[in-house]
Amino acid sequence: MPGRDLIVRVAREIRRDISSARQRDPSAQGVGPAEMLATWPGIQALLVHRVAHALHHAGVPALPRALAFAARTLTGIEIHPAANVGEGLFIDHGSGVVIGETADIGSDVTLYQGVTLGGTGFSTGKRHPTIEDNVTIGSGAKLLGPITIGHGAKIGANSVVVADVPANATVVGVPGHPVRVDGRRVEGPDADWIHLPDPVADAMRALSSRIAELERQLADLTGEAPPPALDATVHPLRPVQGRNPAGG
Ligand SMILES: CC(C)(COP(=O)(O)OP(=O)(O)OC[C@H]1O[C@@H](n2cnc3c(N)ncnc32)[C@H](O)[C@@H]1OP(=O)(O)O)[C@@H](O)C(=O)NCCC(=O)NCCS
Repeated sequence: MPGRDLIVRVAREIRRDISSARQRDPSAQGVGPAEMLATWPGIQALLVHRVAHALHHAGVPALPRALAFAARTLTGIEIHPAANVGEGLFIDHGSGVVIGETADIGSDVTLYQGVTLGGTGFSTGKRHPTIEDNVTIGSGAKLLGPITIGHGAKIGANSVVVADVPANATVVGVPGHPVRVDGRRVEGPDADWIHLPDPVADAMRALSSRIAELERQLADLTGEAPPPALDATVHPLRPVQGRNPAGG
């Protein structure tokens, strides 16, 4: 009987979802499955999605969308009923997550709040990302278009990714670029997308040296001592650890 099969399958998937949440959420240690089901929005959204997805595939009209809408209202997580979601997905915190109609998500994927798996425009057909197994997507990241995020990749918080990502790569920035593949820094002349040139700081440095030169010439003409040099140094917020982009 399909109803019984559905219940058995959803129960198995949701058990796996709860155990994934417990493994990957440090705050879930020691929390029982019932409490997690009652209070973890990511788990609630997945439970509803797994039912809505099965009903969608069974050709049931309207109800899958109504369920998705209810889950969105409750959790802030919007998953289209047609989206293929693998086992062991963990959505931490939840709010603001959007998973589009043609998205495909593999097993043991982790999404943080504010992640969008979206399309780039009004095209039809496959238009949302494919996320392979064991991928982690940081909070606020936007992954747009029918791109593939390779197995084990990490997407940095607030990145905007519009191109395929190789397996086991770490991608950060807007637009997202790999900064590590297989744990090693990406090499090459244009590979540093973190330590970008700062044109404002460069302009301030140039102006400051021009002013210092003018003050020196004025002091020569008047015979007066030049004022103390302006400190126009632009101090970085933290020591730069990667390559100097100017050095390639
Ligand atoms: C991308 C991420 C997975 C990288 O983790 P990692 O593999 O440990 O790599 P590192 O921390 O060594 O980062 C590599 C470089 O990218 C930079 N970087 C990391 N995350 C970045 C981000 N989101 N945006 C821009 N640059 C970032 C780091 O500063 C580092 O630069 P460096 O080479 O100058 O040191 C992690 O930084 C991240 O964004 N995780 C998401 C976590 C999240 O969303 N948490 C929400 C909890 S509520």
